[in-house]
Amino acid sequence: MHIVVVGSGYVGLVSGASFADFGHSVVCVDKDAGKIAKLEAGVMPIFEPGLDQLVETNCRAGRLAFTTDLAKSISGADVVFLAVGTPSRRGDGHADLTFVYQAAREVAEAATGSLVVATKSTVPVGTGDEVERIVRQARPDLEITVASNPEFLREGSAIEDFKRPDRIVIGANDPRSREAMGEVYRPLYLNQPPIMFTSRRTSELIKYAANAFLATKITFINEIADLCEQVGANVQEVARGIGLDNRIGSKFLHAGPGYGGSCFPKDTLALVKTAQDHASPLRIVETVAAVNDQRKRAMARKVIQACGGSVRDKTIALLGLTFKPNTDDMRDAPSIAIVTALEDAGARVRGFDPEGMQHARAMMPDLQLCDSAYSCVEGADAMVIVTEWNEFRALDLKRVKALLAEPVVVDLRNIYRPEDMARLGFHYQSIGRPSLPVAES
Ligand code: UGA
Repeated sequence: MHIVVVGSGYVGLVSGASFADFGHSVVCVDKDAGKIAKLEAGVMPIFEPGLDQLVETNCRAGRLAFTTDLAKSISGADVVFLAVGTPSRRGDGHADLTFVYQAAREVAEAATGSLVVATKSTVPVGTGDEVERIVRQARPDLEITVASNPEFLREGSAIEDFKRPDRIVIGANDPRSREAMGEVYRPLYLNQPPIMFTSRRTSELIKYAANAFLATKITFINEIADLCEQVGANVQEVARGIGLDNRIGSKFLHAGPGYGGSCFPKDTLALVKTAQDHASPLRIVETVAAVNDQRKRAMARKVIQACGGSVRDKTIALLGLTFKPNTDDMRDAPSIAIVTALEDAGARVRGFDPEGMQHARAMMPDLQLCDSAYSCVEGADAMVIVTEWNEFRALDLKRVKALLAEPVVVDLRNIYRPEDMARLGFHYQSIGRPSLPVAES
């Protein structure tokens, strides 16, 4: 099949390269000429494990190409995926659909024959109807049908998620779209992932409901963690104790500093807006979004408390700045709110991240960036684990203790064991687990 993917961001790039790896012929289009030039030279615009190799192999095999020329790429296409951004609209939290509608119009205008336009961007219920109206108006002479095909991949494990999905959701209101989309995913049938065919509106809502549910699960365990701290219980054991119940499941029950990233914060907000517009409010999701916002700032208060009630003129070392490990993405990362609150409280804040330094520099100009975890903690009054990169799990903690001015560690991801930290002589605070007294040396 000849597939075109419009938009070479996370979803577009990973989908395009994976479709090519299935054996389809794929062209990825983006308006950003700099990005396309880099991709043609084999330089990835994002950090995603395995993506560079996947792109290289498929480009070399002649199945994957990049261009800024949408019109040319559309000629002869069977399916065109829209994978452009849907940022939060300034001021009201609705998803901004400008790019989706614009791309749909340009695709229709360039079309040379019948084709299926499938939306992979996360779009509110009803967007497919508007896309259909746009393409019909632009090209009444052609049979262009519109499908919804939401993407559930996670940054950091995007390729694996794409190739071994828990499910594939295809929202289509006509048999031609259903047939073409089934053909796109046929190479995956060997692994037998469940494929769900639904109406377009149902498919659009599945995407938001999935992200809102996952955000709710995280927020639930985060609040339980707060209660654990008050009553002397251990949140990791509570999570395991409830997660072993198959009806609950053990995933997404890691308590932490609150969820961030380019999806959960934006998508929960957009879903809340859609629900309000339809006079069917989602009060649970509204609360989840509000609790999560407050939590990020509360993490700074936790650090201040661990430092004896004040961080004025103290140096705080933050390890991990991205919203989660294995990505360079800083969007809505908890580190941003934590740095701001600590600086407001008079602290000098330093940071280190294995991949996120470039974005961190642009987003937090006042933050002093260090070139390693050890140089970051040297002379600092506290070390704070904000993101659970593997290299922080394996730190030489004796060396860390010798480098710190005060042996204070606040672990917002529970990557160390309280008993080990107490034995090593750290004043150690984590999330939802009892703190132990420092062992006598
Ligand atoms: C999320 C969803 O997991 C994907 O299924 C979805 O496709 C994607 O959004 C999207 O809509 O595009 P992603 O944002 O890459 O993927 O990251 P997650 O792994 O879901 O993590 C989101 C946030 O939740 C991170 O800040 C992470 O640290 C936090 N989290 C996750 C927790 O605090 N605890 C957990 O147990 C799990």
